[in-house]
Amino acid sequence: MKTEHIVRTFVEYFEERGHRRVTGSTLLPPPGDPVLFTTSGMHPLTPYLEGRPHPLGGRLVNVQRCLRTTDLEEVGDPTHLTVFEMLGTWSLGDYEGPQSLDWGYGLLTEGLGVDPGLLHATVHGGDDRTGPDTASLEFWQSRGVPVELTVEDNWWSNGPTGPCGPDSEIFLWSGDTPPRSTPTRDDRWVEVWNHVMMRHRRLDDGSLVPLPQRNIDTGLGLERLASLLQGGSSVYEGDVFDPWRRVVPPMWPLEESSLRLVYDHLRSAVVILGDGVRPSNTGQGYVPRRLLRRVLTVLWRGDPSRSLEELPVELVEHTLDHFRQPMDPGDVRGVLLDEQRRFGRLLDRGRQVLTRPRFRGPLGEDDFHYLHDTHGLPRELVMSLRQEQRG
Ligand code: ALA
Repeated sequence: MKTEHIVRTFVEYFEERGHRRVTGSTLLPPPGDPVLFTTSGMHPLTPYLEGRPHPLGGRLVNVQRCLRTTDLEEVGDPTHLTVFEMLGTWSLGDYEGPQSLDWGYGLLTEGLGVDPGLLHATVHGGDDRTGPDTASLEFWQSRGVPVELTVEDNWWSNGPTGPCGPDSEIFLWSGDTPPRSTPTRDDRWVEVWNHVMMRHRRLDDGSLVPLPQRNIDTGLGLERLASLLQGGSSVYEGDVFDPWRRVVPPMWPLEESSLRLVYDHLRSAVVILGDGVRPSNTGQGYVPRRLLRRVLTVLWRGDPSRSLEELPVELVEHTLDHFRQPMDPGDVRGVLLDEQRRFGRLLDRGRQVLTRPRFRGPLGEDDFHYLHDTHGLPRELVMSLRQEQRG
């Protein structure tokens, strides 16, 4: 089952149940929003979750690209990507949690053919903020799906303040044995779909107040689900990575973990550039810069003659097309090459500066500040160059 087919099936299923499709936004949040990038499908919809009437009504569905840099260190594992797509549905003060879970269960098992025996759910078990989510628990019990109760893992918020609530998560078994254990104890249970009962707002002082309406916010990780339905054991085995897996390994023979980093970071950088961000030393622009530098560090560690010049423009084009971005692939590739040149020059300068006697011994805060402010060398880079010099 191709990724495009999953998207179509998802959207049509919810359209048939009264949801209107909203166009996904770019990765860039509206001006004034405190976060750098859109991290979840609900993010652009925050004012409507807080009570403003949505022009398309109370039932929405969409496909939203998201970026999570908090997961950067986890990239390379089987389930995390820096940029990914989230299929989302919303009830803005319309239906309640069990209805949402019922449609979620129906779509997975009937619409997408998932074996119900491979599902596990988790539900909020209650704490001092809110009682146990018995409605979700009873729903899963009525379908014979095993449930695990947790507290922290079943509470979702997009940030320290704003809309939040208890959630019920749906996991799919990815192991090659019959399912066993529970999601918190065995990571072969992969979370695919989160249903948040978004009924609270957290204020600056940490207290919770009820939102003006009881919402449902759901998000399904598209690449995760697609790779599992396609029989893969990691997100990189899904069809959206087919061209990457065909082109990159013969060109740059790397270990699997490095290949994954290259696929994820290059693809993510292309999408960020495709949304109009340009590399810089601060803010949004620092994210593609950091991603590209991590890629180049991996490439050059094995062979300093490797170059992004070798990257066929078709990979850039395939990614921009997939994310429906109108940017010219040649321009995006041009930015990648500029960044590569700039990083190459910075490394040359760094290597030279670090041979000075002052930097031979342990470095203090003053040294890091000087290297950063005078030579543009970030701490992370200084550390890796010193490691390289020590051999
Ligand atoms: N907003 C919820 C999430 O991102 C659905 O998991």
